[in-house]
Amino acid sequence: MDANKDQAEYWASPAGLKWLEHEHALDAAMAGMSNLMLDTADILSADRIIDIGCGTGASTLESARRVPEGVGLGVDISKPLLARAVNRAKEEGIQNASFLLADAQTYDFSRQPFDLLVSRLGMSFFSDTMAALMNLSDALTGRGRMVFVCWASVTKNPWFSVPARVAEERLGKLPSGNPSAPGPTAFQDCARVADLMAQAGLSNIEARPVEIELTPPGGVAGAARAASKVGPAARIMKGFKGTEADELAIEEAVRSAFENFEEGGVVRVPAVVNLFTCSR
Ligand SMILES: C[S@@+](CC[C@H](N)C(=O)[O-])C[C@H]1O[C@@H](n2cnc3c(N)ncnc32)[C@H](O)[C@@H]1O
Repeated sequence: MDANKDQAEYWASPAGLKWLEHEHALDAAMAGMSNLMLDTADILSADRIIDIGCGTGASTLESARRVPEGVGLGVDISKPLLARAVNRAKEEGIQNASFLLADAQTYDFSRQPFDLLVSRLGMSFFSDTMAALMNLSDALTGRGRMVFVCWASVTKNPWFSVPARVAEERLGKLPSGNPSAPGPTAFQDCARVADLMAQAGLSNIEARPVEIELTPPGGVAGAARAASKVGPAARIMKGFKGTEADELAIEEAVRSAFENFEEGGVVRVPAVVNLFTCSR
């Protein structure tokens, strides 16, 4: 896992483990994203599906449910997140799902190729995206295809832009980095990624933004908690060594801003993701 050692470390660190802590809220918020991806994939009941960067396994388990005669394999570089995914499969009694601890950029998947590769927000963290796409192309059968979703830019996503704005107002701005560097929004430029996919030898490439809604549970307070604890506000808190008072103030300001998205106790945060599809 040397090629992505920093990612393996990050996703096992307290910051990465926030995905474990807020699993329920994040999975509920992103249910529409999973459905968009899996509904787009035209899944057949015997398909063998590989889910890249599966985290605690929500999309792997949903994939496995959709292929009663096939299998779902979740791959992730984080040992603790993957351990949770294994437990979830046991808890939910899903027997055709399994999990593999591996760096998807370099692991040799070619011995048991898959019909479909999916990924919910797990493809934009590779140190070498082109190498990863070429490697993952070899994980597919001759008729194999890929369908994955990644975040569009922060500016199109209040889930990120609101917590970022309020945290910056309170604590300050972190230096801005390269927008294509490995991270949650590295695939914000559809044309750039589509070009890399073509260079990696993939075909029938489509890359387009799709408007969805995030549906976090727990009303405005629940939405504000999840959006403040994971993502840009959490990064700014860490960068400026924010205090508990800062954390509370940021969450309260996010709660207030998110009231715009609440109706009848239900929060729907407008969002834009980029949907990528291709075949081998
Ligand atoms: C934003 S999280 C998404 C998790 C999950 N797909 C979800 O939607 O809940 C990104 C995931 O990608 C995984 N990841 C990052 N780099 C990876 C790599 N090189 N190989 C496999 N997994 C990787 C991380 O460990 C993390 O679980």
